[in-house]
Amino acid sequence: MGRSVSLSPRVSEGAFYHRLSNRHYTVRDGRMRRNQKDAQGREVNPVEKTIDFGIGSGNHAVTYVHRSAEGRLIELPVSYYALSGWAMSPGYDKPDHLDFRREVTAACLFCHSDSSDPAPIGCGRCHGDGAAHALKPSRENIVNPKRLPASRQLDVCLQCHLETASSGFPDSLRHAGRDVWPYKPGEALTSYKTYFDRDDSKDRFEVNHAGYRLMQSRCFTESGGRMTCTTCHDPHSAKARNACGSCHSSPHARGTTDCAGCHMPKRRTEDAIHVRMTDHKIVRSPKFEEPKDERHEAFAGGLKAFYGVGLLDLAHVKQAIDSGRGTENDYRRWLALEPGSSAALASLGEALMRFGKRAEAVPLLEQVRLDDPRNQAALNALAVHHAIEGRLGKAMDLLTEARAANPDHPLTWINLGVTHEALGDTRKARAAYLEAIRIQPDSSEARRRLAALR
Ligand code: HEC
Ligand code: HEC
Ligand code: HEC
Ligand code: HEC
Ligand code: HEC
Ligand code: HEC
Repeated sequence: MGRSVSLSPRVSEGAFYHRLSNRHYTVRDGRMRRNQKDAQGREVNPVEKTIDFGIGSGNHAVTYVHRSAEGRLIELPVSYYALSGWAMSPGYDKPDHLDFRREVTAACLFCHSDSSDPAPIGCGRCHGDGAAHALKPSRENIVNPKRLPASRQLDVCLQCHLETASSGFPDSLRHAGRDVWPYKPGEALTSYKTYFDRDDSKDRFEVNHAGYRLMQSRCFTESGGRMTCTTCHDPHSAKARNACGSCHSSPHARGTTDCAGCHMPKRRTEDAIHVRMTDHKIVRSPKFEEPKDERHEAFAGGLKAFYGVGLLDLAHVKQAIDSGRGTENDYRRWLALEPGSSAALASLGEALMRFGKRAEAVPLLEQVRLDDPRNQAALNALAVHHAIEGRLGKAMDLLTEARAANPDHPLTWINLGVTHEALGDTRKARAAYLEAIRIQPDSSEARRRLAALR
């Protein structure tokens, strides 16, 4: 885990063609480049970004991250896998992937980095703040997980190793008033978050499922809370020892050793098919099928609590919003959980615009612009509002602000194109639609508008 982030990564050179999205990728000189080929075989839609740091130790994979001129962190679409070399990053093996547009959020960094500024995971994430301890070492001013109750020892690891699903439904929600940072080791994880699962109990196996699968094992549920991650793992080297014998006198012939080899097989995960992980759900005779394609479909059915209590109704609200089925009331309830959040206020504002309530939406969007002047959603929605009212100059100003804050946002370029068209400048409109297509070659909206212009 001390190698969870590499700040000056060594990057192998390579080239890779992704058939599903018809894009060519090359990695050279610390940069990642993508292009497509037109009917004559000429290069079109090139994008090139520097590789600024890596996430992952490389034991399974390294995913690279670009830091934009505006300071945004962007996950790069192609990763290096121990098993297969260069291939699409987890979650990108589909025709309409996010390419160079997925932001590495505070939530990603909480698990992969020591702080919100990318750095390898350090002692403090399991032992608490060590500043006072370093000045005057004492047992009283450091957390030794060994002296915590077993459930709290487990929570130290679960803060990063419990993820019930990487996509498809809201896997967990933080309690009101809790930011992403900080969670303090020693604290009950369930006072920070509640975790959810599908209530159809479908058997699923994903990359970050060690905690989720272990907690479904009879070894875990029937050992009276004694089983933790450190029953088998050394927390510092992360190596696993064979600890089955501490609870079981083996039912097998004497001399049988590789218990995990049969009862905890390594399997291909369904959210990232280029890695194999150890299945921590310990059963008699594991039976499974290896996935052939990545699965990320949204789940619309009911949810249940998996770890912790409360917030289940809000998980259903979030599920409806994420799938585009949210009502006005859903957006308002979501905002009530995160009263100061610009993102939640902006999505309420956008929803009100969609529901035809522009007069109510505009003051909210103006508020977002004050709190977070670079908020793309608010700037674009306000620009659309002014354009509808016939104030094209004002719309253009807002879109120019949006473009300066994030030049890689296709919607901003599409709205710029529409505004240029309204102002009668088809040359600039065409250039804006082409830029949207360069950034997002699968944008049907930009292609449709460009075709209409011709
Ligand atoms: C701050 C988040 C965080 C905490 C806390 C944490 N881990 Fe990890 N752990 C990670 C990440 C991220 C990785 C993946 C690193 C990589 O890229 O290989 C990892 C990897 C591992 C691995 C695999 C190492 C390998 O060589 O493949 C083991 C085993 C592990 N952790 C066990 C634990 C245990 C046991 C605890 C609690 C004592 C714990 N972790 C606490 C984030 C965390
Ligand atoms: C709840 C904590 C958590 C969150 C949130 C999280 N990850 Fe991870 N992620 C992990 C852990 C732990 C592993 C290693 C799993 C293992 O070895 O079993 C991992 C594995 C990965 C891998 C595979 C590379 C490897 O080391 O095997 C990538 C890439 C990755 N995460 C990127 C991201 C990105 C990007 C985000 C944000 C969108 C994110 N993760 C969010 C905990 C998390
Ligand atoms: C992933 C979580 C994790 C990280 C990171 C971590 N530790 Fe630990 N550490 C533990 C756990 C868990 C124990 C208790 C081990 C046990 O149960 O025997 C422990 C125990 C210790 C002990 C006491 C050993 C003993 O015999 O009681 C020391 C000293 C220590 N850690 C130092 C460090 C230092 C220094 C760092 C940073 C370089 C560090 N640890 C990083 C989880 C971690
Ligand atoms: C902390 C104690 C503990 C540890 C460590 C432990 N188990 Fe278990 N295990 C149990 C308990 C308790 C049960 C349920 C009662 C029973 O079947 O004995 C169980 C059940 C099982 C079962 C039956 C599962 C089922 O679904 O019917 C298997 C197989 C098993 N364990 C294998 C292992 C293997 C292999 C290891 C080491 C990788 C291991 N256990 C480690 C406590 C433990
Ligand atoms: C019953 C023993 C046992 C327990 C308990 C256990 N693990 Fe493991 N774990 C293993 C074994 C065995 C491996 C495979 C080690 C190897 O291949 O070298 C493994 C591998 C891992 C890996 C490496 C990635 C992978 O999937 O191969 C991670 C991460 C991990 N464990 C995290 C955890 C966490 C977090 C917990 C607590 C929630 C935990 N483990 C509890 C036995 C255990
Ligand atoms: C070659 C594969 C293999 C190895 C190695 C292996 N097991 Fe098993 N084990 C099985 C199978 C298969 C069953 C189911 C037998 C059945 O259901 O009749 C089983 C059953 C069990 C059970 C459940 C027994 C019961 O009566 O409920 C436990 C506990 C168990 N194994 C523990 C272990 C431990 C501990 C080790 C290591 C010392 C180990 N196994 C090594 C294949 C293996």
